[in-house]
Amino acid sequence: MAVSSTATGLDTNPLMAAYKRRRDTSRLGVASKYESQGFISSGTYGKVYKVLLLPQAVAAPRPGDLKGEAGAFYAVKKFKPEKEGGEGYTGLSQSACREIALNREIGHENVIALREVILEMKAVFMVFEYAEHDFLQVIHFHSTSHPRSVLPLGVLKSLLYQLLNGVAYLHSNFIMHRDLKPANILITDDGIVKIGDLGLARVFHRPLVPLLNGDKVVVTIWYRAPELLLGAKHYTTAIDMWAVGCIFAELLSLRPIFKGDEAKMDASKKLPFQKDQMMKIMDVLGAPTVDEWPLLSWMPDYPQLQAMERERARQDPSKPRFENNMGIFLNRYMRSMDTGRAALQELFTWDPDKRLTAADALNHPFFTTDAPAPTKNAFAYATKPYPTRRITADEGGLFAEPAAHAPPAQTANTSATSQRPAAPPAPLAGQPQASTTLVGTSAVGLPGARMWTTQQQAQQQQQQQQQQQQQRGMARKRPRIA
Ligand SMILES: Nc1ncnc2c1ncn2[C@@H]1O[C@H](COP(=O)(O)OP(=O)(O)O)[C@@H](O)[C@H]1O
Ligand SMILES: [Mg+2]
Repeated sequence: MAVSSTATGLDTNPLMAAYKRRRDTSRLGVASKYESQGFISSGTYGKVYKVLLLPQAVAAPRPGDLKGEAGAFYAVKKFKPEKEGGEGYTGLSQSACREIALNREIGHENVIALREVILEMKAVFMVFEYAEHDFLQVIHFHSTSHPRSVLPLGVLKSLLYQLLNGVAYLHSNFIMHRDLKPANILITDDGIVKIGDLGLARVFHRPLVPLLNGDKVVVTIWYRAPELLLGAKHYTTAIDMWAVGCIFAELLSLRPIFKGDEAKMDASKKLPFQKDQMMKIMDVLGAPTVDEWPLLSWMPDYPQLQAMERERARQDPSKPRFENNMGIFLNRYMRSMDTGRAALQELFTWDPDKRLTAADALNHPFFTTDAPAPTKNAFAYATKPYPTRRITADEGGLFAEPAAHAPPAQTANTSATSQRPAAPPAPLAGQPQASTTLVGTSAVGLPGARMWTTQQQAQQQQQQQQQQQQQRGMARKRPRIA
C-alpha cells in the first residue's frame, strides 16, 4: 500500500485512474466519519484521540470493518508518518504495520478490537473500540486516594483473570505481546479488560528471523524478563508471563515492583547489560541458580551476573549473597492468601520453561477455588467509581496534515517502546512522575498500602454480601466467568 503508484506506472493506466477517481469521490474521509472529542495521549509512534462515530459512516460501511453504532465513542490512533527516503522506507512504520496486520486477524473479548484503518493525508488512522480506563489509571487512583486504599480483592482478581484470558488467547494464536504493562491494558466502562498496543507484538510460529534480529529491545524495562536481561536470543511467551507477574505485584503494592534505571546505549551501539534492573529483581528474589534454571549458565550475559554476585560479596561481607525477600513483599501485601502468593511466585519463576503459562494460570486455585471468583464486570466489587479518562483540547491535531518535515525516525535498536518506562497517560500528566520519587528503591520493605489479610477478606465479603443484597432488586446480573 505504501509503494508509490508512479513507481509502478499505475498512474498512467487510464482504467486505474478512473477507478481511483471513483473510489476517492465515493469514499468518506476520516473527518466526515468521525467527530473528534479531544486528545487522549501521545506515544512513541503516534497520538491517540477520542472520537464519535457519525451516522453517515455507519451508512457506508467498507468490507472488513466492524459494525459501529452512530454516537458511539472510539479511539483513533494516528501514526506519525515515517521519514521519507530512509533505508527500507515503506511509508509505514514497522510498528504500524504489525499493529494493523495482527489486529486485523484477531478477535477476542479481552483484546481491543480494531474497527477500521484509514489511510489519508499521508497518515494512518487506526480506529479502535473506546476504553474508558486502563490499569495505570486504576493503580494511580488507589495510590493517590486519601487515605491510600488497596484494590478490592474482587476487582484485582477480575482484572488479572481477564488479562490472563486475553494473553492466553494471544499465545494460543502464536502471538507474543512483548510490551505488557499497566498503560497498555485498557478497561471499558463496563469493566471488561482489553489488551491494547500490539505495536511490538509479533507472531512466533516458525519465525523467519531469530526473535532477536532487527527489533532487539522488547518490553519496557521494569517489566522485562530475566532471560531478556541476560541477553537471550531466543525467547518464548514466558516473557509476557513475567510482565504479568510484575503487573500482578503492582496491582497489590500500587508501585512497580522492579523499578530499575535503564542503561542507555552508548556510541558503540552495543546493547548494554541492564545491571540496575537485574539488581532490583535480585534484591527481591535473590540470585538465580543453575539448579533452578539449568540453562542459566548459557545466557550470553551470565558472566555479568556472576560479576554482580562477586561485587555484592565484596561490598557487604555481612550479607554476601542476594537473598530472597519475596516473603516480605507477600506478607506486606497478601498475608494469608496462600493461592495468590503461590500464583505470583509461579509467575516469577526464573526458568522461562518452568514459569506459569497463561492457560495454567487461568486454572490456578487462586481463581478457581478461592473466593471471591473473578467477575465478568471487573468493577462489580469496586467500592467507588473509577475516574474517567481525561480528554484535552484536540486543537486540530487529529485532522491536521502532517508537518512537511517529519521527525527523524529512530533506528531499529532504539525504536521499541521498551526504551520508555511507563509514561503516565494524559490523566496523570503534570503529576510528579513515579520515577522521580521512587527510582533506586525496592518495593520490599517500603511503607506502602495496606495488605490483604483473612480478616479483611472476611470483612470485604460481608460488605459484598450486603451490596449484593441491595443489588438483588436491580435487573442487571453480575455474570461470573470462573
Ligand atoms: N482504545 C482506546 N481507548 C481509549 N484510550 C486508548 C485506547 N488505546 C490507547 N489509548 C490510550 O492511549 C495511550 C497510548 O496508546 P498505545 O496504543 O499504548 O500507543 P503507544 O504505542 O503510543 O504506547 C494508552 O496508554 C491509553 O491511555
Ligand atoms: Mg502503549
